[in-house]
Amino acid sequence: MELHILEHRLRVASIAKESIQLFTYGLIKLAFLSSKTRCKFFSLTETPEDYTIIVDEEGFLELPSSEHLSVADATWLALNVVSGGGGFSGSQPIGVTKIAKSVIAPLADQNISVFMLSTYQTDFILVRERDLPFVMHTLAAEFTILRVVNGEMVAADDLGITNGFVKPKLVQRPVIHPLSSPSNMFCVTSLDPDTLPAVATLLMDVMFYSNGVKDSVVGSEDSGHIRFFSFSLIEGYISLVMDVQTQQRFPNNLLFTSASGELWKMVRIGGQPLGFDECGIVAQISEPLAAADIPAYYISTFKFDHALVSINTPSLEQG
Ligand code: ARG
Repeated sequence: MELHILEHRLRVASIAKESIQLFTYGLIKLAFLSSKTRCKFFSLTETPEDYTIIVDEEGFLELPSSEHLSVADATWLALNVVSGGGGFSGSQPIGVTKIAKSVIAPLADQNISVFMLSTYQTDFILVRERDLPFVMHTLAAEFTILRVVNGEMVAADDLGITNGFVKPKLVQRPVIHPLSSPSNMFCVTSLDPDTLPAVATLLMDVMFYSNGVKDSVVGSEDSGHIRFFSFSLIEGYISLVMDVQTQQRFPNNLLFTSASGELWKMVRIGGQPLGFDECGIVAQISEPLAAADIPAYYISTFKFDHALVSINTPSLEQG
């Protein structure tokens, strides 16, 4: 297995709901007119709390500096697990379930904080740039580590860090944050970038203007319904996470879903905002899911974490 350390230097930021209009000029450019920017990594996720933006340094320049933009104080790098060599079998487990044991748990054991972004195409594990030597040392045994430098893959050497390494404890990680599960169901989809113009107005509506109206119609969060929409455009690939009600607004056959067209139940993690320093939250959730072979995606936002859990799993259907 290969672990790729991507070149993008990422910022994680939050925009307050009521301030989104101050940023739409830049956000529309990043999402729909990306050829006018040098941005290669952009993701926008709307939750009831805020809009979370994950964007590379180039894209960050498109946003005005403003007191209404809260930026996490580190630069993050994206890691990506690729099953090396061999033909593509297409039958690998999906999402964080696949990387829970090999990546998420070892990093949690070494007290390395991560920030997760699952997309239709892959799962990005964000780590703070300053933690990279520890990340590499921790994962060197399990992976061939390659680093992208000027667009080329180069072997990344373990820097031989030995200080500060604790022996992984073989304890279970109890779930310490409160969980909640909204009533709406979600799908993880993609879109051919060539068809983006055809749905740009709909996407703008969904991303920036669907809040007040729609939510009051479905009774906001009282009914257990939650506002959650995620758009990402990363290295030319689009990924969309939306609830079924939103999906129904799209023309038929435009969105790609996985062959099974699965729907996902959301589990939100956190009562108080989770911050960026705490470790092991993703591990608390993904390890038991992986142990039970339950496919799951995982999306961290500025304040909370979100697991999307398959409900079509045999082990659940029996119970
Ligand atoms: N740092 C957490 C971990 O290592 C995950 C991110 C939680 N924080 C957040 N703002 N979503 O498990």
